[in-house]
Amino acid sequence: MRQTGNATVLLWLRDAHAMESQSVQMLTTQLPSLIGFPAFHESVKAHAELSREQRDRLGARIAELGQASSLLRDGFGMALGLTAPMMIAALPDNVVRSAVTNYAFEHLEIGTYRALIGLAEQAGDRETRKLAEFILAQELEMAAWLEEHLAAIAGEVLPRATAVHEAFFPFGGMVPPMGL
Ligand SMILES: [Fe+2]
Repeated sequence: MRQTGNATVLLWLRDAHAMESQSVQMLTTQLPSLIGFPAFHESVKAHAELSREQRDRLGARIAELGQASSLLRDGFGMALGLTAPMMIAALPDNVVRSAVTNYAFEHLEIGTYRALIGLAEQAGDRETRKLAEFILAQELEMAAWLEEHLAAIAGEVLPRATAVHEAFFPFGGMVPPMGL
């Protein structure tokens, strides 16, 4: 029973490691488009660095549990479409899309660490539980920042986007009929 629990903790640690790798990649990719938004840029930059540390702490814990780091797969493949907004980076409201994506991703992370805390407790793995609690607090802090600032970011960006939207999406995003 204990062995099964520990194997599950290890699997979830690996998923969390992959999730943080994706976070680093996603946040780093966003940075160039956030230059005109110093507070948001600073927040994303700081959280990318934090995510890198979290990924490394998780990797260290995985190694302590006897899993070779070379076996880690970072292509976790979050099947939630969370990276989709990055595909439309050219749109002026991409900054808001990034904020919304990060808000959703933070809550995916929060849920994952809450689950890991419960799993580790059940398996009697105090170290993993402590690590998950430590990282959870950092994710909650980032989520709270977004909670506080997301509407203001949208309020700042969306008016600037209006002209572009009206020029490129005069039909409200619908593809116009041929010949128009
Ligand atoms: Fe994180």
